[in-house]
Amino acid sequence: MSRDESSPAVPSHWSRAGAGEHYAGNRWRDTRARERDVRLLERVLHGSKLRDHDPQQLRRILDVPCGAGRLTPFLSSLGTTTGVDVSPQMIAVSIGQRTRASAFALPFVDGAFDLVVCCRLLHHLTTDEDRVLLLAELARVARGPVALSYWDAASWHAWRRRRGLRKGHDTRVPIPRRQLARLLGDVGLRIQERAHSMRFVSPQTWVLAVPE
Ligand SMILES: C[S@@+](CC[C@H](N)C(=O)[O-])C[C@H]1O[C@@H](n2cnc3c(N)ncnc32)[C@H](O)[C@@H]1O
Repeated sequence: MSRDESSPAVPSHWSRAGAGEHYAGNRWRDTRARERDVRLLERVLHGSKLRDHDPQQLRRILDVPCGAGRLTPFLSSLGTTTGVDVSPQMIAVSIGQRTRASAFALPFVDGAFDLVVCCRLLHHLTTDEDRVLLLAELARVARGPVALSYWDAASWHAWRRRRGLRKGHDTRVPIPRRQLARLLGDVGLRIQERAHSMRFVSPQTWVLAVPE
């Protein structure tokens, strides 16, 4: 894949045959695990009181990467949701309005969305250069907040990885929260809300970032 298509740092296994079906099903241990990101996303949105304000605020929502559409039912309950993913395998199984494109080159005008959601992509990027490219593109198409997940370096999981105590090859990259705040600051966003499933244990963390 070229950079126009995707970041070279992002693994390509999501484009293999069957990747969409796997992500829609067996990828998750159980329904609770599958739904965990929705619960965390709800928490950052609630924390920001966004959902208690004018419902018109969330008319247009971007879900990138949408994968197999795991977040679609929840996001569609808030507003008109467009899913974007670079993988044809994912697009084929995802539901609702969707477009195949790279998160690094989104085919939308500046400020096209009231809310931009980015779940489980940032921790696949290995350099700050790529992270800033992604965050800048998300910020460009957002008129309002950007909700995104990342892997928190201050977690038991990440600590065990650093110590070589976890078995198996894992390319996902945890980053410290200060580093994330700095990268968001570089693209004109600041963190307003944060949610963890288990603080200091689980690496998966959500933040709601708003324009500075
Ligand atoms: C870990 S999955 C997460 C999918 C979805 N957000 C979810 O949580 O169910 C990562 C997704 O990123 C997509 N992806 C990888 N590189 C991408 C890129 N440059 N632009 C858009 N999507 C990309 C993959 O195809 C895959 O669907």
